[in-house]
Order: sequence, then C-alpha cells, then structure tokens
Amino acid sequence: MTHADLFSRHVSRLQAKTEKALAEAGFESLVISSGTPFTFFVDDRDAPFEPTPHFAHWCPLTGPHHLLHVVPGRKPRVIRYAPEDYWYEQGGVTEGFWLPEFDLEEAGTLDAAWERIGTPSRAAFVGSETERATKLGLEANPKALVSRLDWNRSYKDDYEIRCLEQATVLGARAHRAAREAFATGASEREIHHAFVGAAGTTEAELPYTTIVALEKNGAILHYESKQTVRDGRVLLLDAGVQVRRYASDITRTTTTAACDPRFAAMVPAMEALEQQLVQESRPGRPYLDVHLEAHRGIGRILSEHGLLKVSAEEAYETGLTHPFFPHGIGHHLGIQVHDVAGQQSDPSGTPAPPPEEHPYLRNTRMIEPGHVFTIEPGLYFIPMLLRPFRSGPRSAAFDWDTIDALAPLGGIRVEDNVVVMESGPRNLTREQLPD
Ligand code: GLY
Ligand code: MN
Ligand code: MN
Repeated sequence: MTHADLFSRHVSRLQAKTEKALAEAGFESLVISSGTPFTFFVDDRDAPFEPTPHFAHWCPLTGPHHLLHVVPGRKPRVIRYAPEDYWYEQGGVTEGFWLPEFDLEEAGTLDAAWERIGTPSRAAFVGSETERATKLGLEANPKALVSRLDWNRSYKDDYEIRCLEQATVLGARAHRAAREAFATGASEREIHHAFVGAAGTTEAELPYTTIVALEKNGAILHYESKQTVRDGRVLLLDAGVQVRRYASDITRTTTTAACDPRFAAMVPAMEALEQQLVQESRPGRPYLDVHLEAHRGIGRILSEHGLLKVSAEEAYETGLTHPFFPHGIGHHLGIQVHDVAGQQSDPSGTPAPPPEEHPYLRNTRMIEPGHVFTIEPGLYFIPMLLRPFRSGPRSAAFDWDTIDALAPLGGIRVEDNVVVMESGPRNLTREQLPD
C-alpha cells in the first residue's frame, strides 16, 4: 500500500478515535498547535525545534506555530503558519502525500493563524501556547482528553508501523557503519560521525542524543559526551533514527579480541536473554512479567559467569540483580522515544505506577496487539550502586575480584524494537539488524 493510502486510513482512524475522546471528555472540538520554539536566554538562537507530539500524530508538517482544528463530522483543517520572512526558512511542506487529508489554509502571522480558529464553543487545546488558547476560551490541555489521546497513541496503525520500519532500516544501516568504525579503533566521536553519516541525517534530526560509549562509559546509562580516545575494547552503542517523527531505538554491545574473555562471554548470553524476552512479549501478558523475567535471566548470567557466588534463583529472590540492572526492561516507542501511556491503566488516565522495588519501569500495561515497545536488558558495573553491597551484609555473595576486573569495561545492553501482533511479537530490529 502507498504512503498516501496508509496515511489516509491513519487520519480516518484518528478522526474517529478523537471524536469519541472528545465526546467522552465533554468537548465539541480540538485545536492542536505544532508548538513554539525555545529561544535561548538573551540570545537570538533557538533550540532544535520539536513539534507537539499530538500534532505530529496527525500531520508530518514540520516547523512551529501551525494549528490543527478537529471538528466532529468535518475534514480536519491545518492552518499553516507561513510568514513572509527571508531570515529563516518557514515550516516546510517537504512531502505531499498527506495533503489531501486536510483542508489547508495559510496564515502570515500568529494572530492571523489564531483568528482562523475563532472562538469555538467547548473547545479543547493541546500544546504549549496555553495563554493564548485560554484567552480565546479554549480549555488548555485538559487531562480527561489528553489521557484519552495518549491512550490512543499506544496502539500503532499500519502507517505508523511503516514509519517505524523506515526508521529501523536507517538505524540498522547506521549501526553497521558505526560498528565498522569501532572495529578499526575509532573514537566515540568518530563512531558517532560514522553513525550520523550512514543514517543520512543531521544531529538535530536524531530522535535522541546518541549514546556512544567505549568501555567504562557504558555504565553511565545516558552517557552523551563523545571522547576522542581510540581503541576501545567494548562499544555500547544506543542510537536510533526517526522518520516523520517515529523513532527507532537500538542498542548493541560489541567487543574486540582484546576484551577480557569473561566480559566478552557475557555479551552473547545477554543477546540470547534479550531475544528470549522478545519472544515472551506476547499479547495478554503483563509487561511487568517480562521485566521480572529479565531479572531472573540476569541472575542466571551473573551466577553462571561467576560474578555472584549464589544460585540464579537466590540472586533473583534476594534482589542481588538490582545493582547490575537498575532500569526498566523497556518502554513504549513511537513519536516520543519514551512514548506515552505506559503507566495508564485506562483511557481516562487512572495511574498504573510500577511496583516500589522497580521504580524505573516505564510500562506497566498488559501487552496488547498494536503496542510497540523496546526490550532492552542491561548488565552494568556501576560503582555507586555496587558500593553499598560491598560493605553490606550480602557482600560474600559477590565475587569482588571478578567484578573489579571487569568494571573498567562498563556494561552491556541489547535493545530491539517490538511490534505486538495478534499472533505474537514481531522483532522489527532483527529483521534489519540480525546480529
Ligand atoms: N535510548 C534511550 C533508551 O533506550 O531508553
Ligand atoms: Mn530504549
Ligand atoms: Mn536506547
């Protein structure tokens, strides 16, 4: 099916779901703004622009200040902000496949754009220009509506999956290029450039800052600086690409022949665990179960590889896996890399927080067809998390000599992106990056 066909169905589905959400939340129409740019203090420079995700869900038009007006029973209307200006380029229409789905209007000023909205009765607004919206009588970001829109975003349709597939193709290509650079001894900075070059994007277009971590830097979960030291023995590369705002979020850990074989042997073990967890991400299962299964698997690896001197079962039962795996097994993925509605228990937004002992689990939902999420187990040597155990009552359960020998190598993470189908999980990432 063409992009145009997929997109047409996407908008029809969005229209129907939004009409239902509006009725349930007590509104007659919805205005969404693409957002305002962030200008640095006492400067005339803006941060890279990121559109309101709810706007991007409807429309791939880039740039700030555009408005979308959704009225039940009517074709959605896009008011494109297009001032006459020769200093900066204005929000571009780069691809045309989506245009037939909207009534497109243009406005040369912000006031003119908002005048086209008028003062609709019982209208909701979603976006950052809350002051302007409130002045016109719109209710800004009402929770009852936003929760329902977020809930809808957690079920991806075929257009969205097509975007995710394209982001995966580019992400896989860029990962391969980065890994080749690593194999020749490249520094973090050079590996990053290899990634961006092969992805064919600019840095500002990436869905998140690349994590290019050699050796010990891999133990900093969101490590961002790019050092110039060459010849690392371990590369933890967590990097993705976005296509029409839909992101891939891929991690691979690679070792060279110079790496300590005890560390290197744990990489395929983590790969096998990650793929097992993907296979177990089936509809009807709580995502929390997959997270707990990851702790069990990491307990097994820690025990079998001699980092813990207790059985896998004891490691799991007594929480000894926690300092090595201190984040959640993954998160919803979509327009936002950490996509919405993972901690909602229903469309109206009733919170579903994670268990106290797993505070960083971002998804507590039952797995359902249409969900897209990451599966990303990790095993790290993080000094601040290991320290209390070294001097604590369970110290004898750890093999500190081995841990201290491997700690300079950082950590291991393996991350794939999964689309849940009626028939089971589809591993989008492995289709493009099998190793
Ligand atoms: N790249 C950030 C994450 O994996 O959650
Ligand atoms: Mn992730
Ligand atoms: Mn990631």
